[in-house]
Amino acid sequence: MAKPQLLKCAICGKEYKPEENLYTCPDCGLDGTFHVLYDYEKAAKEMTKESLRKNGDFSLWRYKAVLPIEKEESIPHLAVGWTPLYRSKKLAESYGVKEVYVKDDGRNPTGSLKDRASAVGVAKAMDYGRKAIACASTGNAASSLSGFAAVSGLKSIIFVPESAPVAKITQLLVYGAHVVLVKGTYEKAFDLATAAIERWGWYNRNCAINPYLVEGKKTCAIEIAEQLDWNVPDFVFVSVGDGCIISGLYKGFSDLVKLGLTDRVPHIVGVQAEGASPIYKAFREGSSRVKFSPASTVADSISVGAPRNWAKALNAVRQSNGEMMTVKDEEILSAIPELARATGVFGEPAGVTAFAGFRKAAREGKLPQDARIALIVTGNGLKDIEGARKAVGQPIVTEARLESLEQALRERNVI
Ligand SMILES: Cc1ncc(COP(=O)(O)O)c(C=O)c1O
Ligand SMILES: [Zn+2]
Repeated sequence: MAKPQLLKCAICGKEYKPEENLYTCPDCGLDGTFHVLYDYEKAAKEMTKESLRKNGDFSLWRYKAVLPIEKEESIPHLAVGWTPLYRSKKLAESYGVKEVYVKDDGRNPTGSLKDRASAVGVAKAMDYGRKAIACASTGNAASSLSGFAAVSGLKSIIFVPESAPVAKITQLLVYGAHVVLVKGTYEKAFDLATAAIERWGWYNRNCAINPYLVEGKKTCAIEIAEQLDWNVPDFVFVSVGDGCIISGLYKGFSDLVKLGLTDRVPHIVGVQAEGASPIYKAFREGSSRVKFSPASTVADSISVGAPRNWAKALNAVRQSNGEMMTVKDEEILSAIPELARATGVFGEPAGVTAFAGFRKAAREGKLPQDARIALIVTGNGLKDIEGARKAVGQPIVTEARLESLEQALRERNVI
């Protein structure tokens, strides 16, 4: 448990004392998202390599010395984090780098990395004694929040674009959320949620607004470091929509340096879909602000034209000497079966976008041969079957007779 010491604005740098209803910097408005800072000297005494070796809690709560929760009983009873990190020799060989690791965050309880944020968001709402929590989302943050709210007995009110994949909407309904399908884009859902939260006083789980959610996401970076025995990779690739996950990764790696557990932050490479790439454009132009523009991509989770956490996201890439890149929808779709066949990890379109970016960077000769790479798979492939179906062939259909099967197998060169 750690009481955060300070909230520091990602734009103007002003510091504030944490308060229940202080979400973003009063001077900078919604753009002024906060970094959450702790008493790192104290945390470093609690969270050591030795204490972690003895820690039998294989969930993100093993890092509670740097998580902003104040009451043990606030923690939801749903296992989250400590997802597998697979080493893929095959991908390393195919793409000419030293090591490739695949972090399968689709293995979280509701199937995406967003569970890390929801676990912390719901715990924080419980810390404050709140009864209802709300968010807007492209889908995963929503289904994740509804799962964690359900186990903690909180009412959840969720705003998603009408076009969200049916699997994600079904997940919400199954968990008992009050689901609002908003006609229009994610941006419209976000604005309506923001207004409704203000009107009815629900706890705000919007990741780009509530500073504590990125704290949950940072545990993905901390896990990667621990799973690699504190020898962090050189490059970490991750898909980017609103920019919260990438901000979380940077925060996790930089917290570790402050705690003295690692000696550097990896280069963080953010990958956007070509049709939804405002953060990429701002990075390339060297601008200090992101211009919003309409978004369109097959990867629904990162179909974000007005990214809300742009200030922290740009900071993450710039401070880590990282890179922003884009990939085409075809590259995202073809990455789904390639990653699954090489590693066994089936990601949704936004889940494999990091791999698509890595593949492109490697093919263009942009990665050193001795590079150690981590790829974050942010969401499970079963979340968006329609997306995956576009990237694969048809099954064999046969009469239930061996002769008929034989003919079909021959036609496909299986035998
Ligand atoms: C599977 C998946 N990948 C990537 C992202 C992008 O994360 P962020 O919006 O924090 O940049 C999301 C967000 O919804 C997601 O669900
Ligand atoms: Zn500010």
